[in-house]
Amino acid sequence: MTSILGISAFYHDSAAALIIDGEIISAAQEERFSRKKHDARYPYNAVQFVLNHSNLELNEIDHIIFFEKPFLKFERLLETYLAFAPKGFVSFAMSMPIWLREKLFQKQFLFDKLRQHDKNFKDINKIYFSEHHFSHAASAFYPSPFKEAVILTLDGVGEWATTTLAVGKENKITMLKEIHFPHSIGLLYSAFTYYTGFKVNGGEYKVMGLAPYGQSKYKDLILKELIDLKDDGSFRLNMKYFNYATGLTMTNDKFSDLFGKKPREPEKELLTQFHMDIAASLQAVTEEIVLKLTSSISQETKIKNLCMAGGVALNCVANGKILKKNIFENIWIQPAAGDAGGSLGAALAFWHQELGNKRKIVATGDDMKGSYLGPSFNENEIENTLNYLGAKYEKQDEENLINTIVNELQNEKVIGWFQGRMEFGPRALGARSILADPRSDKMQKKLNLKVKFRESFRPFAPSVLREDVNDWFDLNSDSPYMLIVTDVKKNIQIPMNEKDKTLFGIDKLNVTRSSIPSVTHVDYSARIQTVHKETNHKYYKLLKKFKENTGCPVLVNTSFNVRGEPIVCSVEDAYKCFMGTDIDILVCENYILFKDKQYEKFKKDNQL
Ligand SMILES: [Fe+2]
Repeated sequence: MTSILGISAFYHDSAAALIIDGEIISAAQEERFSRKKHDARYPYNAVQFVLNHSNLELNEIDHIIFFEKPFLKFERLLETYLAFAPKGFVSFAMSMPIWLREKLFQKQFLFDKLRQHDKNFKDINKIYFSEHHFSHAASAFYPSPFKEAVILTLDGVGEWATTTLAVGKENKITMLKEIHFPHSIGLLYSAFTYYTGFKVNGGEYKVMGLAPYGQSKYKDLILKELIDLKDDGSFRLNMKYFNYATGLTMTNDKFSDLFGKKPREPEKELLTQFHMDIAASLQAVTEEIVLKLTSSISQETKIKNLCMAGGVALNCVANGKILKKNIFENIWIQPAAGDAGGSLGAALAFWHQELGNKRKIVATGDDMKGSYLGPSFNENEIENTLNYLGAKYEKQDEENLINTIVNELQNEKVIGWFQGRMEFGPRALGARSILADPRSDKMQKKLNLKVKFRESFRPFAPSVLREDVNDWFDLNSDSPYMLIVTDVKKNIQIPMNEKDKTLFGIDKLNVTRSSIPSVTHVDYSARIQTVHKETNHKYYKLLKKFKENTGCPVLVNTSFNVRGEPIVCSVEDAYKCFMGTDIDILVCENYILFKDKQYEKFKKDNQL
């Protein structure tokens, strides 16, 4: 038995992953345990979780792989400083002490951190370093269902590379092309995230969500001034307008002058049509880059499968466009596409590329186990926690529970759904989710304002039974990780069940897309999760029952958290979120908790 621990840390979203004989066993982000969003510190809790999950001590692990090379990153910082000197002195002077203290001496530093788990861990030579983009590429290719694929990684920045193209074949990955810092779509996106007044490294989603409200008026200006985009999708940014290589902000005065406005001050200044147009223009440029890159590589290699990872691969609108243009026959995107997934990629890269082990390709689906790779809680643990918290609960068998919840969903109740192993990656996929009826026209507002405490423009995503996805959406393939945006069908034809066929004398019922308003964005798009019997049986059963009762195989699925907080991990996190919001019912495995039965004194306002 060979066990490999992968670790990503010290940039954003620290995480740990464990593989045993090539099989993905467990993985989780540190933020879920520490409750600090995008926690970038050494992932002590995540490492401890993957060890406990397999009953292993750290000294029993065979290899430990860190997801990037600290020396290469140091070299980038140093060379960036030299290239832009003396302009870059402020950022250089500020980042150097941190680098010298924590990052440059990373092997010893990591060794000391690892010893906190087990004082019998004595072999520093078990620690290896992968490369940032190689870790992303490995996380995208090795768990995919493809023998051969083009691998595209798009990211802010790793060591030097910001965009890489590689080919994966059996157990080998070969890098073909790289675009280097400071030329980066991720950083371009982050620069506009900063400019529109959202938080860099986290607020990028909001910019993407804002885009459909605007017109892409500034697309040509961006392509003319900010970026030199070639036909093959390669590009260079005009560094005259950016500040991130040398300063402490993302954009400079020339950038503001170009668009005629200063960056929006977060929380103070309102979002206007201007910001929506900027978001729409940026989104259009991003899509053009991604489409040019993918079509040129598809023509060059003639390979039919595409794998993607890196932060920009979470841009599900662009992903939807690649799919729609049929540039590739199949696309697979690593659900933990950001740096957290680098931990898994680093471990898989070592197993296949370094140790030369063969891949076991899963013919259907993939090797990610639905991305349900985090902690789960058994009945004893749940009961003990609920008793300790003074919660009022009842237990039902699975069938009753599903019937109860489907009825409550139809009564427009909001459900906290806590089941099985927590998801790895930024999306909630029916293990730590908040669920609601998508047919309700009040639901989007209720969820945004009273449950999630977030901007009212942000749309919600639908979960849909895999076999029904094509009846409701412009999609006829798997999208298990909610990473593809597509249109809600204009005219939805719902096949009738046998009983109704005889009753109504028709095969299909015609409805329009306004029938699921709370998951339909203003441009009629939706970010879709297909739900599969094989990977999440209970959630599948819930959707199936909901469809039986209502004819609609779709539910609103949003992550189980409030704004600014990581997704809940434990039963205690779930109970606190339930009590601090307008979630009506909490379900933990087969335990059910009604809000109106809880002690009044435990209800507290989570809205800060
Ligand atoms: Fe990355």
